[in-house]
Amino acid sequence: TWTTEAFVEESIREIRAKVGDQRVLLALSGGVDSSTLAFLLHKAIGDQLTCMFIDQGFMRKGEPESLLKLFEGQFHINVEYIEARDRFLKAIEGVTDPEVKRKRIGHEFIHVFEEESKRLGPFDYLAQGTLYPDVIESADTNVDPKTGERVAVKIKSHHNVGGLPKDLQFKLIEPLRKLFKDEVRKLGRSIGLPEEIVQRHPFPGPGLAIRILGEVTAEKLNILRDADFIVRDEIRNRGIYHDFWQAFAVLLPIRSVGVMGDQRTYAHPVVLRFISSEDGMTADWSRVSYDLLEAISNRIVNEVKGVNRVVYDITSKPPGTIEWE
Ligand code: XMP
Repeated sequence: TWTTEAFVEESIREIRAKVGDQRVLLALSGGVDSSTLAFLLHKAIGDQLTCMFIDQGFMRKGEPESLLKLFEGQFHINVEYIEARDRFLKAIEGVTDPEVKRKRIGHEFIHVFEEESKRLGPFDYLAQGTLYPDVIESADTNVDPKTGERVAVKIKSHHNVGGLPKDLQFKLIEPLRKLFKDEVRKLGRSIGLPEEIVQRHPFPGPGLAIRILGEVTAEKLNILRDADFIVRDEIRNRGIYHDFWQAFAVLLPIRSVGVMGDQRTYAHPVVLRFISSEDGMTADWSRVSYDLLEAISNRIVNEVKGVNRVVYDITSKPPGTIEWE
């Protein structure tokens, strides 16, 4: 039977045996997989681990700050914070097609990752938070015929991109590859990962950029970040955060007429997307209370300049997808 304690002990032994005194690089996103992996590796090899945290500017309000505070401040894990907001915004300037947007973000990620790993390197290993379901699914990792090692040809959290350039190949280390998601959560919890990360809702790699339909601008990012914060604030305050698989806001590029005081407004609508799901493959829209909807709607329209209407998405998956892009 699987016990977390035994798994931790065995993993630490294996990681140390494999890595020796070499250096390991990890792309940290702040999600449960990469965070658990960072904690586990740090326990095993301490400062031989470097976490690269690329801030593309599409994260939720306060997230980069709290991630740094937690990893560096509280747990003294090496984190290289890469501020790349302008680069990413520039990379998707004028782009309206969702797939092009994803691709551009993915490619920019690879570019930044490549540049920065050269600057910070050399590294011997790339650590990835690959889970068991990913291992079964994927045929996109090559095995080095000489050593039998798996060699990285892609970055998991940005799976819609081609992969790393030929001259930037690492040996892979994937300590979570025998685990399912619920086991990762147990593991994370047992090695000290705070509950807020262990139980965090899934958040897509391209982040808020795919929740702003059409062109992404700095102004729209600010609007959506504020609206999204209110959604989380309200469900946290009511103690219902864990009732949802995901609960978020989407910003539409259209505008509609409204009235505020004695002023006519002409501003964007925000869509609320609250869903329940087991695995994200299928999903049901959540039957939330009118009180909650009213509170969120009032706050968004009153507190977020640029939004004058809030609507609720009542489409399940299929036929809808969870995200709007
Ligand atoms: P959809 O919209 O396809 O979403 O129903 C299913 C789940 O996947 C997440 N998602 C993504 N995650 N990169 C990611 O890392 C992406 O490009 C991406 N698109 C969707 C989505 O949040 C949901 O949990």
